[in-house]
Amino acid sequence: MFPTHRPRRLRRTPALRRLVSETTVAPRQLVLPMFVREGATEPAPISSMPGVVQHTRDSLRKAAVEAVDAGVGGLMLFGVPAHRDAVGSGATDPDGVLNVALRDLREELGDATVLMSDCCLDEFTDHGHCGVLAPDGTVDNDATLARYGDMAVAQAESGAHLIGPSGMMDGQIGAIREALDAAGHTGAGLLAYSAKYASAFFGPFREAVDSQLKGDRRTYQQDPANAREALRETELDLAEGADLVMVKPGLPYLDVLRAVAEMSPVPVASYQVSGEYAMIEAAVANGWLDRRLTVLESLTSLRRAGADVILTYWAVDAARWLASG
Ligand code: PBG
Repeated sequence: MFPTHRPRRLRRTPALRRLVSETTVAPRQLVLPMFVREGATEPAPISSMPGVVQHTRDSLRKAAVEAVDAGVGGLMLFGVPAHRDAVGSGATDPDGVLNVALRDLREELGDATVLMSDCCLDEFTDHGHCGVLAPDGTVDNDATLARYGDMAVAQAESGAHLIGPSGMMDGQIGAIREALDAAGHTGAGLLAYSAKYASAFFGPFREAVDSQLKGDRRTYQQDPANAREALRETELDLAEGADLVMVKPGLPYLDVLRAVAEMSPVPVASYQVSGEYAMIEAAVANGWLDRRLTVLESLTSLRRAGADVILTYWAVDAARWLASG
């Protein structure tokens, strides 16, 4: 008695496996998130994200050019301001760190890459929340929308091709679209963080941006227990004018990514977040995982689940590995 079906036949040689491989990852699909710190004179390492730094204006320029030369598809910028206040004034100040960095990179790179900017107040507020606070201390949704609109306009004026609203306020995509259009920035696109969870995997990011947050973001980011809600959030963002939608984090939310990819008429992004980076790097540092194999497998998994675009701190390494076969 022999088995009738032998799936192993297609796995016998590297050439056979290559022929029938379903999922590819290309450097152009990868976006590198980058941090720039106001007033910095030296790049500062982020201890929980080995290999990632808070850039100076200068080192950011150099690293951005290197990333583009390596073939990555885009850059996502986060600012670390020197001063913070209750309303996050630095976010809308044309001379605020993020807007200055956008102008630097637009001048350096023109349209050679896709410049993206985080549109959220948490890096800029002294309380660390993603929006402004009402007198009772809760995050004031509608007052925050006005700030997001002004922030997005400042970013578009500074050269962002895509603006990434990540604050999970209700109506943020519609409000930002309206503000951009009213200011004449009809061509600036929106990468909507549609399904963003209140995730423990954002831990190292808080160090990366010197976050002032005490408490959590559970009144605006989604409950990790909920999948259905992600589809509703995505539908709302699409109706309000999202040009791309994103699911975040990455590997812990592959089911959500798959569901969003199945219903979305626009490209879908996935964000492999700081904690995912930290976990794999820590295991690699202990000699427990192979860096290249693990990173490429995780990127392949995100693509297989439906991501067209992946934000990953490994974008440059991965682009080089992929280019070298
Ligand atoms: C909000 C924002 C966060 C991340 C991206 N945008 C932090 C948060 O929501 O707490 C996290 C990214 C990561 O962990 O890599 N500005």
